[in-house]
Amino acid sequence: MKARRPTLSANTKSDSTPPERADLYALMAGEHAQLDKLLDKAASDGGAIDSEAYQDFRERLLKHIRIEERILLPMAERKRGEPISIAGQLRLDHGALAALLMLPPADYAFRAIRAVLDAHNPLEEVEGGVYDQCESLAGSEIAEVMAQIAATPRVPVSPWVNSPKVLAAARRVLARAGHDPALLGPLEDEFR
Ligand SMILES: [Fe+2]
Ligand SMILES: [Fe+2]
Repeated sequence: MKARRPTLSANTKSDSTPPERADLYALMAGEHAQLDKLLDKAASDGGAIDSEAYQDFRERLLKHIRIEERILLPMAERKRGEPISIAGQLRLDHGALAALLMLPPADYAFRAIRAVLDAHNPLEEVEGGVYDQCESLAGSEIAEVMAQIAATPRVPVSPWVNSPKVLAAARRVLARAGHDPALLGPLEDEFR
């Protein structure tokens, strides 16, 4: 069964961001933009796949996810006394992304990663969304949070794996997070 994904209200575009939005938003949304570019470079529409760009993308995205999972969400939970309402969906999406990053660089993997990011990043970037909530919950601790983020090292990434098992696992976590597992192509087309 397909999970129900959270929806966003109308004025959710990050390009309408007012300049006064704070440092945490700027840093993390800036990383989203860099990751988008890197994914475009790796996928290199219609051209050869850039494996080096894909490897760079994998490492940077896992580090970005680690910052959210190990610094931002725990801080928000500690401050509120309970997780922010969307934390469960974020973690499902992060799990789906981590599973997709185990796939070899191929069009079906890029298509699925792009679709998850296109649904996920606005939940964090929208005005009043995850980054804004984390910034205001951090309050006077924001400098400490920013320092922890700056000190986060790159994440060592396992080599990608070209295997039906890894692809099947990616399909399962995609579906669990409310995304269409058919993003990875029809079952009968795998590994022809
Ligand atoms: Fe995220
Ligand atoms: Fe993010």
